[in-house]
Amino acid sequence: MPRLGVNIDHVATLRQARGGNLPDPVYAAFLAEQAGAQSIVAHLREDRRHIQDQDIKLLRKKIGTKLNLEMSIAPEILKIACSIRPYQATLVPERRNELTTEGGLNVAANLKIIAAAIKKLKESDIRVSLFIDPDKNQVDAAQGAGAKIIEFHTGRYALAKNSRQKEKFFNQLKHAVDYAQAQGLVVNAGHGLDYANVRRIAQIKGIEELNIGYSIICKALYVGLFAAVKEMRELVR
Ligand code: PXP
Repeated sequence: MPRLGVNIDHVATLRQARGGNLPDPVYAAFLAEQAGAQSIVAHLREDRRHIQDQDIKLLRKKIGTKLNLEMSIAPEILKIACSIRPYQATLVPERRNELTTEGGLNVAANLKIIAAAIKKLKESDIRVSLFIDPDKNQVDAAQGAGAKIIEFHTGRYALAKNSRQKEKFFNQLKHAVDYAQAQGLVVNAGHGLDYANVRRIAQIKGIEELNIGYSIICKALYVGLFAAVKEMRELVR
């Protein structure tokens, strides 16, 4: 049974809409943990569109589970991560004009710079995961860069336009999980997972953790965050 990591970025998106203190991502993290979240995920973007530096500092101090900081390998962000020292850093690609993280890291094409970032983070005792597409070449590259943990981007499966595509992307993911596991990597997954599509992914043997944000925060508007996280945890289970 995979663990559930809850991404709280969009609590901060709502707060930033008015520039005040509400809703508070730290309180949201507390509620998510009470409802069964096994880690809290937050992405400190270079443009600070949602999570702010202070949120990461407070989350690091206040949460009872584990902080998984999503981040790019920009020197400024690396410096912040090394000073705050979250439990884990998940390295993701970042483009200023994207609405969300649209694909995995191209580790194969950026091996040296990613390996250097992993080394730096590990020197600060931070575990490092690489967010990659479910692709054998990227798995090999992730290992070559020194990663022990990877997170597969499930967006292609989640956004598939028809059942034929969905089947194709599901099988790609399943094979990639088998391959990465056989290489001795810890395998996580996430992106675009929701209450309708998560069950099938949660059943793939070898996935240790699912990281889910948007669908949970959307549901929370109707039923409250505690109920939204609890329902997702039950589905994952
Ligand atoms: N995992 C990673 C590495 C991500 O970048 C994101 C999105 O921030 C998620 C999981 C969660 O995706 P979603 O918000 O679509 O559930």
